[in-house]
Amino acid sequence: MSGDQPAPDRILQLIFGYWATGILGTAASHSLFTHLEHGVDTADRLADRAGISVRGAQALLDGLVGLELIEVRDGSYRNTAEASAFLVDGLPTSLSPFAVLKMGHMGSLAGLPDAVRAGGPATVATVEVADNPHWEGLVQAIAAQSVPVAAIAAGLLGLAGAGEISILDVGGGSGVYSGIWLGLNPLARATQLDWAPINSIARRLLTARGVADRFTTVDGDLHTADLGTGAYDLAVYSHIAHQEGAEANTAVFARLRSALRPGGTLVINDYIVDDDRGGPPFALTFAGEMLLKSKQGATWRRADYAAWLAKAGFDDVTFHPTPSPATLVFAR
Ligand SMILES: C[S@@+](CC[C@H](N)C(=O)[O-])C[C@H]1O[C@@H](n2cnc3c(N)ncnc32)[C@H](O)[C@@H]1O
Repeated sequence: MSGDQPAPDRILQLIFGYWATGILGTAASHSLFTHLEHGVDTADRLADRAGISVRGAQALLDGLVGLELIEVRDGSYRNTAEASAFLVDGLPTSLSPFAVLKMGHMGSLAGLPDAVRAGGPATVATVEVADNPHWEGLVQAIAAQSVPVAAIAAGLLGLAGAGEISILDVGGGSGVYSGIWLGLNPLARATQLDWAPINSIARRLLTARGVADRFTTVDGDLHTADLGTGAYDLAVYSHIAHQEGAEANTAVFARLRSALRPGGTLVINDYIVDDDRGGPPFALTFAGEMLLKSKQGATWRRADYAAWLAKAGFDDVTFHPTPSPATLVFAR
């Protein structure tokens, strides 16, 4: 085929794309990257250490080499730098729990044609159900994505030296922002609003980080809970806007404007789409996930955030790319 002719390779890779999710999720579920990191480097030894078959270990190793997550030389395998940084168990940045979680979601994609036809989930919208067990796995798995973002936001906002600040995290999940920010600033205090079972996970994790004495939780629904008035210097709304529609986001932003002190900052973090809907790829693709799981959610454009925030009373809005697929928004 001449260089100018389209080739089918990329489309075939997309058709078989679910294999990447399966191989990565399976390797993560058997802690393969962790064993490799500890120097266990052949199929036989990995099979023994992970308690899996030699044939299975070899198939996983071949798949991982194909996915360029590990390297092989003279029959000895090792992690790439990327796998060492993001797939070894126990690291705060480990995406392995997320890989296992998403592998478990693959079956739900069979419902996408119906969701596309109907304009939403055929049965229950996962994200709108309080106390949904979905959250319990998700919030702990997603925390690794928020770790670098929380650190970047802290740097940009000068949080470490900001003194006695008060933080409100709406839908805080694992408490990842509070954990990192309270760790950086010993005078800061944080309040998290979330469902009760999720708040207990956050309290457990922040106790382990030694900052729980400055961390309060409020159990409730973010659409209706009392957020207070003029009580906070910072509010966080991370990975929530994509599950909500325009009206709900605008209403929460207006309540957060009132909850903040004058000059306080609302920090939004989400997968945000360019105004012409031409990119970035991850945010564009994630819209399908929200179609499948929510009644009103989507990945929203910068222009949407700017319009909703202006309507809610914020007059200074800035966007900051991060090394994750998400963008930070600061609104004052
Ligand atoms: C995708 S997670 C994001 C967690 C965290 N903010 C982060 O960025 O890592 C969404 C969080 O919002 C919470 N949540 C979703 N809908 C909610 C609602 N209506 N009221 C309170 N919390 C809600 C979920 O329990 C979950 O902790």
